[in-house]
Amino acid sequence: MVDDNVANRESLVEALSENSFLVDAVGDGREAFDACSKGRYDLVVTDLKMPRMDGMELLRHIKGSDPDALVIVITGYASVNSAVEAMKLGAFDYITKPLKPDRVMLAVERALAFARLKEENVTLKDQLQEKYDFGRMIGYSAKMKAVFDTIKKVAETDSTVIIYGESGTGKELVARALHFNSERKSGPLVTVNCGAIPEELLESEMFGHEKGAFTGAVRSRTGRFELAQGGSIFLDEIGDMSPALQVKLLRVIQERQFERIGGMKTIDADVRIIAATNQNLEKAVKERRFREDLFYRINVIPVTIPPLRERKEDIPLLVDHFVRFFSKSKKKDVEGVTEGVMDFLVRYHWPGNVRELQNVIEMLVVMKGKGVVDEGDLPEKLRQSGFKHETVPLSIQIPDEGLNMTSVIDQFERDLLVKALKKSGGVKNKAAQLLNLNRTTYVEKLKRYRIE
Ligand SMILES: Nc1ncnc2c1ncn2[C@@H]1O[C@H](COP(=O)(O)OP(=O)(O)OP(=O)(O)O)[C@@H](O)[C@H]1O
Ligand SMILES: [Mg+2]
Repeated sequence: MVDDNVANRESLVEALSENSFLVDAVGDGREAFDACSKGRYDLVVTDLKMPRMDGMELLRHIKGSDPDALVIVITGYASVNSAVEAMKLGAFDYITKPLKPDRVMLAVERALAFARLKEENVTLKDQLQEKYDFGRMIGYSAKMKAVFDTIKKVAETDSTVIIYGESGTGKELVARALHFNSERKSGPLVTVNCGAIPEELLESEMFGHEKGAFTGAVRSRTGRFELAQGGSIFLDEIGDMSPALQVKLLRVIQERQFERIGGMKTIDADVRIIAATNQNLEKAVKERRFREDLFYRINVIPVTIPPLRERKEDIPLLVDHFVRFFSKSKKKDVEGVTEGVMDFLVRYHWPGNVRELQNVIEMLVVMKGKGVVDEGDLPEKLRQSGFKHETVPLSIQIPDEGLNMTSVIDQFERDLLVKALKKSGGVKNKAAQLLNLNRTTYVEKLKRYRIE
């Protein structure tokens, strides 16, 4: 409240305070501006005619340092000109003297309601942004769009989700997108890497323990399930979990309850489970490495992220994204890659998926420093492996009477499968690698062609 007239000032402060507003009152523009630069005010109500700094100048100063600031001016003598000028300078409203507290209250309420709406609008926009941004997941291919659609549909539910995908396809990103698009987003997202933690520690890691529960348990410890209360737990590499722990996890999922090791108290698990694996869990079930009952509890909503080589349309988009990202974060000035390089990057088979692509671009950006990455910048090793598929000579003549393309392709495929097997001395892993197939696909093809 800025006014050099003490009586005016006090009557307004009184009226505003009665309506539960917190008001500071000062006598001129200079004081007001000082106060504004120190504290944070939702609204400034100022008189125009004042010593030292007048209201118009105060308005100009305030708007200069915060264009969103809300200022209401009090104009004396119903001076239309000054009211117009104040509005031009960005005042939210003006009140004419003589001052009526009701009229002031109305203007104040209106200004603050406006500010609230504006803020709501910003948060709504942020939320929208977050929804469609998917935690910076880039994807344009139909396959990735399908993944995004599934995330959108299941994020808000509390259902258990399992994410399948080769290493480096973005399983962790999907887990994050699921959590941060869910109603639990303000709760924690806690990750357990079931593959990286030694088996004997994993149980305590997941469920915690009480002091003295086992030798070495010198103090009690909160497990990840407890830390994740109200949020989500991300069980990464769940396929690597030991059989004993699988039983314990099954119980948590079924009963939504658990105890710390050596603990008497039963704890409710208010936790959404998100799991991920780069294994074929169904196969693991068949081979009795993974419990079937747990499989059905976990495999409620499967999300499969296809390997990068099966969605090559995404590569240019990802390259662009990573070039910009690393140019900025590494303070370089790389503008992009030549068509030849892009061509190569699209053709390459990316066994390490998006992570490998990301690493390659980081290296290229750092080494190049500035300008455009060209073919000479590609490391030799990558170039060789990238072009290995293009060097195969295909020399089939089409006879005059034509041929059955499907069966020719079948013959050709069978021939390749056998050649690879011979070349690798019968080691299927190696044979699959020679053909740039994953082992499962290779073995399935062998079966299909009845190759022993
Ligand atoms: N669609 C994408 N858009 C942008 N970045 C991605 C995308 N997919 C993966 N990445 C990036 O690639 C890297 C690997 O992703 P992430 O760690 O999620 O893979 P992962 O499937 O969990 O791999 P692993 O099985 O090896 O743990 C991360 O740095 C991630 O940010
Ligand atoms: Mg991962």
